[in-house]
Amino acid sequence: MFKRITGTRDILPEEIAWWQKKEKIARDIFSFYNYREIRPPLIEEAPLFNRSLGQSSEIVQKQMFIIERKKEFYALRPEGTACVVRAYIENSLDKTQGFLKLYYIGPMFRAERPQKGRLRQFHHIGCEAIGSLDADLDAEVISLADNLLKNFSITGYKIRINSLGCAVDKKNFEQCLRSVVKDKLSRFCPDCQKRFKDNPLRILDCKQLGCREVLKKIDLQNSHLCSDCNAHFARVRADLKILGIDYEVTPYLVRGLDYYSRTVFEITHPDLGSQDALGAGGRYDSLVKELGGPDVGAIGFALGMERLFLVSAFSSQPSALSLVYIISLGEEAKKEGFKLLDNLRKAGIAADTDYEGKSLKAALRKANDLKAKYVLMIGENELKKSVVALKDMASGVQREIKQDNLIEDLKSIMNEKSQIQILPNPKSKIGILSRTKMKI
Ligand code: HAM
Repeated sequence: MFKRITGTRDILPEEIAWWQKKEKIARDIFSFYNYREIRPPLIEEAPLFNRSLGQSSEIVQKQMFIIERKKEFYALRPEGTACVVRAYIENSLDKTQGFLKLYYIGPMFRAERPQKGRLRQFHHIGCEAIGSLDADLDAEVISLADNLLKNFSITGYKIRINSLGCAVDKKNFEQCLRSVVKDKLSRFCPDCQKRFKDNPLRILDCKQLGCREVLKKIDLQNSHLCSDCNAHFARVRADLKILGIDYEVTPYLVRGLDYYSRTVFEITHPDLGSQDALGAGGRYDSLVKELGGPDVGAIGFALGMERLFLVSAFSSQPSALSLVYIISLGEEAKKEGFKLLDNLRKAGIAADTDYEGKSLKAALRKANDLKAKYVLMIGENELKKSVVALKDMASGVQREIKQDNLIEDLKSIMNEKSQIQILPNPKSKIGILSRTKMKI
């Protein structure tokens, strides 16, 4: 028997309502902030990510799913930012649209060691605002992330922010960090010792307790920021205050991707354990130019949907549509039921029927399992009288409806404005069989 690949999940029908609801909320909130959806492909040229995320980033070093075909290298996208920026440039959106706010919802792929909240295929709800350096936009983007979480009814999260400064500041920061870490290098983990050479800022991001202990004793005030970057960060903090967003400045927050500059942020949740980031983002003011586009600033973030799921109160919800379940007994009734099924659907009423040849009792049980609101039953008696028996599954009340008026009557019953003619139903086989629950 085939099994799913480690680190992937089947999102089964019981869970799907949660996903659809969150996606719907996200789409609504994004549109309130004037974001428009973009759907780039799931597969891109691998060098796009090497160039954007940085050769020494963990994702490029260890986590990309690479496909080699005819000497070309493709990657299943590990994140969305590089793809959106590629699409922005390739489709000349910089020329036709200028400043543009885009959002995306979809799967990402990283060959990580799977654990709670860490998968190989996971989903992002993300956005990118491309074409502005304005600090107010940073605050808007952070407040958008906060607003999404609030609308997902998630509480207890923390927003941490930091500023990496511009490219020159980042270089200075690296040098300053190298000089303070140099004598203590042997106390860091082997990965950090490697990072010291390739990408020293990543040392600040290390999750190893030993490294954290050493780092705690190092004073990392934002002294590396130039006056412009300092002013930018001060403005972002002031804006967040105005917007009433709770945040904490965390000088250790650097993020694992090379493209970030100036404002970076992470949203953590204590219930997530070691993989505690619900989402993260930041500015990437050099990336658009780096990938061949204009020299414009940009900022965005992504929330991990599986991690949102882990901190959400989940209950398997029934379908939002009221389902009508048709049970027909006998060959002739089956033909009529089949026609009726099609008519209901065409009239915009969700409907289904039994395709397993179940007995009436078993079919009613099935309708109950499916949380059908109504069951429409047709047997010989009903055929003769040109009626159907309608059972309200919540109340158990059963009544007859004339076939001619079925759609209109059903619609009005569903809208609780019933004006139908209720007929007693003493002889129907269906009525007798289900009498235990009949209330009329
Ligand atoms: P990221 O921090 O790599 O940022 O991913 C964002 C979020 O995706 C994480 O905070 C986490 O919730 C979720 N996530 C990441 N990896 C996994 C995984 N293996 N399994 C489950 N969830 C995961 C980015 O990807 C940036 N592109 C965000 C961004 C957009 N920055 C600017 N614009």
